[in-house]
Amino acid sequence: MTKTKVWLFLQDYGGILALVVAVTATLGSLYFSEVAGFVPCTLCWYQRILMYPLTFITLVGIIKQDEFLPAYVLPFSLIGVGVSGYHVLIQNGVFSHPATCTVGVPCSLRYINYLGFITIPLLAFTAFTLITAVMLATRRAFSHEFWDEHDDFENDASEHATSQTRTVPYKWGAPLGVVLLLVMLVTLAAFGASEAPENPLSVTASTGSVSGEALFRQITLGDAPGCTACHSLEPGTVIVGPSMAGIADQATVRVPGQSAEAYLQQAIVNPDAHVVDGFTAGVMYQNYEEALTKEQIDALVAFLLTLE
Ligand code: HEC
Repeated sequence: MTKTKVWLFLQDYGGILALVVAVTATLGSLYFSEVAGFVPCTLCWYQRILMYPLTFITLVGIIKQDEFLPAYVLPFSLIGVGVSGYHVLIQNGVFSHPATCTVGVPCSLRYINYLGFITIPLLAFTAFTLITAVMLATRRAFSHEFWDEHDDFENDASEHATSQTRTVPYKWGAPLGVVLLLVMLVTLAAFGASEAPENPLSVTASTGSVSGEALFRQITLGDAPGCTACHSLEPGTVIVGPSMAGIADQATVRVPGQSAEAYLQQAIVNPDAHVVDGFTAGVMYQNYEEALTKEQIDALVAFLLTLE
């Protein structure tokens, strides 16, 4: 492809490229929250607010063959780059966890971690960056000044375009846009129609994608109360049960001769087998063995063992 062809390609397909990225990101995000059952954190919500409208804004721009489409998309995608970039840095410990993120699910929680670094905010950051890059280039491809500067493009371009810039941008936009919209609607309908799993957690745990930390922080575990209803992770904070800060060390000395792992396992499935000094038997929820799968209990124990 000659350089000219790249710019002409962007005039024809720039909006569609952005639409494809936005649709993929939206469906992926809906999959994580609606099918995998991950509860979105506050910063995740801001990113969703910025990404979801782009599916419709780009679609309308394409159907209307509007060469000013980048001007509508860029404010969303640039702020999106900022928010998701900030989120990635929080997850990597560069910024401390902001106060807005302490309500509900913590923003530093990693629901997925493919290859040790691919997290949901990193995927969002990639999508926002791609959309921004495509739209900046498309904006350039439509600018008359740009074509004036590059007179040498013109001869080459004249075969493809009658004027320096296309009068009708985004070729195939309308049919492609309608097809994509249909795909989206069908996928959403499929999400809606798929039977809600009895215990949404069992789905995520069986795929191994939910961490013990995520389970620990769930508000409810099926019909059972979540752990954070009674246990804080702050040292010394007693809600109903003891704080879990330092539990990995405590667990080694609670019952002589019992390993930390065995003790924690027992503390979850059979809380009254050993009652912590100063607390009362029978207060901790007694039926986690039924409410949780074995993998989920193992994941919880593994998480507690990290709290040294
Ligand atoms: C209704 C309140 C309540 C809920 C919900 C609850 N716990 Fe407890 N937990 C307690 C109390 C009270 C104790 C202390 C008494 C005892 O040892 O049974 C305790 C003790 C523990 C201990 C032993 C702590 C130590 O210092 O040795 C562990 C481990 C534990 N809970 C884990 C969990 C986990 C994991 C969950 C969630 C799956 C959970 N708890 C849910 C109230 C609760």
